[in-house]
Amino acid sequence: MQAPSTATAAQKGLWEKLDASRLPAHVAIIMDGNGRWAKKRGLSRAKGHKAGVQAIRNALDTVLELGIGTITLFAFSTENWTRPPLEVSVLMTLLRQFMRIELARLMDKGIRMRALGDISLLPKPIQEGIHHVESETSENSQLQFNVALNYGGRKEILQATRSLLARHLHPDELTERVFEQHLYTSGIPDPDLLIRTSGEQRISNFLLWQMAYTELYFTDVLWPDFDSTEMLTALLDFQGRVRRYGGIDGN
Ligand code: FPP
Repeated sequence: MQAPSTATAAQKGLWEKLDASRLPAHVAIIMDGNGRWAKKRGLSRAKGHKAGVQAIRNALDTVLELGIGTITLFAFSTENWTRPPLEVSVLMTLLRQFMRIELARLMDKGIRMRALGDISLLPKPIQEGIHHVESETSENSQLQFNVALNYGGRKEILQATRSLLARHLHPDELTERVFEQHLYTSGIPDPDLLIRTSGEQRISNFLLWQMAYTELYFTDVLWPDFDSTEMLTALLDFQGRVRRYGGIDGN
């Protein structure tokens, strides 16, 4: 692929190796390691999360340049409420700022944002900020950016089941397609690639249904250090995989 003019010499080499016809349509990321990144530098965890927000901007720019259609980022899990109140409050503040500050950039770049998760449990001003950004960006079509907030995979599957039960569906009517329409990700293709930073090799209750055939990529790089070079490296690794979907012949 042709590297953008802003690419470094090393990045140009990676771009050239990438096959445009074999890029993932959807990349999902568990952004892990903000706290360790900060600790290594003697900084507060808040500073680590702030650096994590900059890494989000970089990731959005890189997938846009590549022409990848969808990216989903795990920003706050249903389990993250158990963190110390001060840290939860820092994350909420960053989220509120993100919705206020990033809207102009999302509009400028044609990015459509959608929140996945039970956002009704987030503080009211944040809910309003999210709804505002979702509606303002709803006509954008350059990139679908999903942000998982108060998201849990099991919770998502349970709420889909509840919603189906409420419709008194006959068991024979329940197909995978119908089920998927009741998930937060309705209408969004399953991720082709999951990236998790910081060396942990777990799914952590993320997109449990959707990741049935997703390729998993784990890197020791901490999220704030996950730059364009790291994204290109992950994509090259992905292009080396043979996806069989349970069959015997991949492409
Ligand atoms: C993991 O690092 C990261 C998170 C729990 C949250 C990710 C949040 C951001 C990048 C910033 C806020 C997001 C938005 C959309 C504004 P960790 O704290 O688990 O790191 P550690 O494992 O090294 O402690």
